[in-house]
Amino acid sequence: MKNADFIKAHDRVKDFDWKASYSPAAARYDMPYKIPTKTSDPFRHLVRDYCSMERDKDDRQYGAMSDVMARAKMPAKASERWTEVLKIALPLTCYAEYAAMKCTGQLVEAVDNAELRQGYLAQMIDEVRHVNQEAHLVRYLSKHSVDAEGFERGFKLRNSNFLMRASRACFDSFFAGNPIEGALNLQVVAETAYTNPLFVTLTEVAAANGDQATPTTFLSVQSDEARHMANGYATLAAIASVPDNLPRLQRDFDSAFWRQHTFLDTFISAVYDYFQENRGGSYHEAWTEWVDHDWAGGYIERLEPFGVSLPHGWAEAKERVKWVGHTAMMMLAATWPMQFIRIDPLNARDFDWFERKYPGWYDRYGKFWETYAEMSDPTHGQLPISLLGSVPPLCRVCHMPCVFPRPDISTLRIKDFGGRKHAFCSDGCERTFAFEPHRYAESRTWDEHFDGYSIAEYIEKCGLLRNDGKTLLAQPHLRADKRWTLDDIRRQQFCITDPLKNLPSQGAVVVLQ
Ligand code: BEZ
Ligand code: FE
Ligand code: FE
Repeated sequence: MKNADFIKAHDRVKDFDWKASYSPAAARYDMPYKIPTKTSDPFRHLVRDYCSMERDKDDRQYGAMSDVMARAKMPAKASERWTEVLKIALPLTCYAEYAAMKCTGQLVEAVDNAELRQGYLAQMIDEVRHVNQEAHLVRYLSKHSVDAEGFERGFKLRNSNFLMRASRACFDSFFAGNPIEGALNLQVVAETAYTNPLFVTLTEVAAANGDQATPTTFLSVQSDEARHMANGYATLAAIASVPDNLPRLQRDFDSAFWRQHTFLDTFISAVYDYFQENRGGSYHEAWTEWVDHDWAGGYIERLEPFGVSLPHGWAEAKERVKWVGHTAMMMLAATWPMQFIRIDPLNARDFDWFERKYPGWYDRYGKFWETYAEMSDPTHGQLPISLLGSVPPLCRVCHMPCVFPRPDISTLRIKDFGGRKHAFCSDGCERTFAFEPHRYAESRTWDEHFDGYSIAEYIEKCGLLRNDGKTLLAQPHLRADKRWTLDDIRRQQFCITDPLKNLPSQGAVVVLQ
């Protein structure tokens, strides 16, 4: 077929656009935006070409994994420090793919524009592919890794592990508001700013630590993301071309950035910096390249002519990103018995690396990690949560602990709304709440949900034990001996209590329009 014929065929495909006769999409979605019905086509692939391209990618990925990598026992040779974090990182990312699939399905239905719809439709198929690829990777690692127990648990703990709950608060933003808000969260922020550090730079860390399976999957996923970013840009350009949309657009964009930043920067930096054994670059370096230079400097600044500017809180985020991963990792290690992964203590080489990459790190976090290592033997019987002084409440919006950016300069605030107290981790989360309190005010945090459980009871109820029925899935070291059992935990008598109950409120939330 000649090129001109391809273009004709491509346009013909879009003629098959439809109007829903059963009920107009606008009636089902609260859609505050006006969307032009004709704009440029972000996708530019014929469906036939698209399908064969994706099939080839699947063949390459699944072929490599089931053939040479499995025969060479590659997953068993990877650094155990590194593969441990995949037990939580992969199910969590798999949920993001599912949320992305829902987002694009809603966009197909709600956006009356054949050009944009074509792009959303292909993205939805991509996201289904990603859900399957990442679920397959979890299954693959649970078959081939040295300590496989825990890999199958992440999917089940989506609602009872506090980090998984925080990830849902972030990824649910892809589909829980109006569909354009979903596109801003997913395509404009998460995919354009964060999938490169997640799927590209993180795979370098994986490969340097002997894990070839994750890069094989993640690089195949990321090869679809450039098209998703193009969908985001085309959506943004369409919305921004209608002046009435602009005030709402900036507000939704500000909130989208903050919601993605509070979870993704925190989580990815902890994964990146604390689970490398063969050490290379830091998350802060990756962030500076991909998020600061490329996203804020290149992409967002080019949107200024459309009337969209850098998100509210950008300067604050830039400062926070130096510390949030360390603070999150301290929280994760302090609460290790409630997790389902093993967290390796840091060694002298790690200490040098952290001080070099993050000057001032030792003074803030070094003592914690020294004591964590000393407490890792169950015969001494102590839990590092006792080192925190007080347990911080969880944020009503992002569901992360209110200790960020660092415990000594935390931006926690406690406010009243609707007869309840609410903790917020930051100005950004309080603002998001203040614009639409009805969306958050009735929700429960993990602390409120499990208030009163003893830690042993929580572990038993959530199934955080190994197949022997007594050894914990989580451990504060990687050794096969000196593993903690439920009896060791029972001796601690630690109880989960909601810290918000005993903290004073600082006044009422001021609702914003
Ligand atoms: C995506 O594949 O679109 C995606 C994955 C993880 C986080 C955000 C987006
Ligand atoms: Fe995806
Ligand atoms: Fe995507």
